[in-house]
Amino acid sequence: MNRFNYRGDELMCESVPLQSIAEAVDTPAYVYSCTGIRENYRRIDRALESYPHLICYALKANSNPEILRDLAALGSGADVVSGGELNLALAAGFPAKKIVYAGVGKTDAEIRLAIENNILALNVESTQELEVVAEIARKMGCTAPIALRINPDIDIEGHPYLTTGKSANKFGIEIQQAKACYQWAAKQSSLKIVGVHCHVGSMIRKSEPFSKSAETLVHFVADLKSMGIEMEHIDLGGGFGVDYQTVLADQGSPWMLEPEAVIKEVLPVIQATGCELLFEPGRSIVGPNGILLTRVLFAKETKGKRFVVVDAAMNDLIRPSLYGAHHEVVPVRRRAGEQQLVDVVGPICESGDFLAKDRNLIEPQRGDLLAVMTAGAYGYTLASNYNSRSRGVEVGVEGEGWRIIRARENWIQPSV
Ligand code: LLP
Repeated sequence: MNRFNYRGDELMCESVPLQSIAEAVDTPAYVYSCTGIRENYRRIDRALESYPHLICYALKANSNPEILRDLAALGSGADVVSGGELNLALAAGFPAKKIVYAGVGKTDAEIRLAIENNILALNVESTQELEVVAEIARKMGCTAPIALRINPDIDIEGHPYLTTGKSANKFGIEIQQAKACYQWAAKQSSLKIVGVHCHVGSMIRKSEPFSKSAETLVHFVADLKSMGIEMEHIDLGGGFGVDYQTVLADQGSPWMLEPEAVIKEVLPVIQATGCELLFEPGRSIVGPNGILLTRVLFAKETKGKRFVVVDAAMNDLIRPSLYGAHHEVVPVRRRAGEQQLVDVVGPICESGDFLAKDRNLIEPQRGDLLAVMTAGAYGYTLASNYNSRSRGVEVGVEGEGWRIIRARENWIQPSV
């Protein structure tokens, strides 16, 4: 369900006009529907309810502490990728036993932090990492819970930067090597084998990559079982794609891949193993439930080209610049007028700084508010201070109420 819609000509988040939020907190501002975020989590949870499972929300999509607290309170687990994310997850109330930690380059300090906190699993991504984890745990006098991240060489047919399960990618361990790793791990008293992991990419549009991953892992688990190595869980990673064109509630579901459809395919495969099933969704929970509110600074025209210069930029939302990603841009107040073909660009001194290209918008004028849609995932978490720009404020909406859930950085008026 999408929580943004027009009431008359006024764009709302739940029951709050976005205009009133912009007037109160200024722009750029990220606005999230807290109700929608909870709803999306619950929907995946419901689809899995017939089977032992754990949803480990991927913090990298959006790690606002208030959003994390909300998800932890619903019973979610967490997928983290750094010591920073691990600390954020713990502070937000995710129980350590529901936290998995992936990443190709964990430092010794990060490995120690994970072991000290006795998380659910370190998702180990190389033979050398496995040896280092065993050694660090031994020195600490602890047992490290591990799952190996398998690279199953599965193509999601998506953006090359968002593909992680092909042999050419840096992620995971290929299957033959992984078998030897598990055999070695089984002999280490400082390691406890708890599961097996894979994550083949993000923005997955069809269920096949998930069903292929499930089949590969189930065969692998059966193989290991015949060698006397048992698993407690199978983790299929995240990656449910969302539709960046479907942005308003009355346009239908923004989910490109319905979780029920994926789960219907993978459950019968996984069930045979009796292992608990883990997923690590990020984008599908928060993506469609967030927008970036921005104000038009100037409209300008060059030979054959119209630009709308807004106060948000690639430092606030890098997805268009980095992946050529499409985000719908819509007016916060609709009005009649003539459509113009424009590029929506930010103030940063790079030609790659744009939020949208060649869009038909109604004569955007200085002071108008625009909403860059589907910015709830990989928006703020990928934001930077490039050009010494302050990161924007984050606002959480709940029914008719709203509140600031992270203050704006303010570098040009530090005392405010
Ligand atoms: N688990 C692991 C191990 C991951 O690497 C990721 C995402 C996820 C789970 C969550 O995937 P999701 O459900 O959000 O698709 N910055 C890019 C996306 C990069 C995804 C990286 N890994 C973007 O803006 O599209």
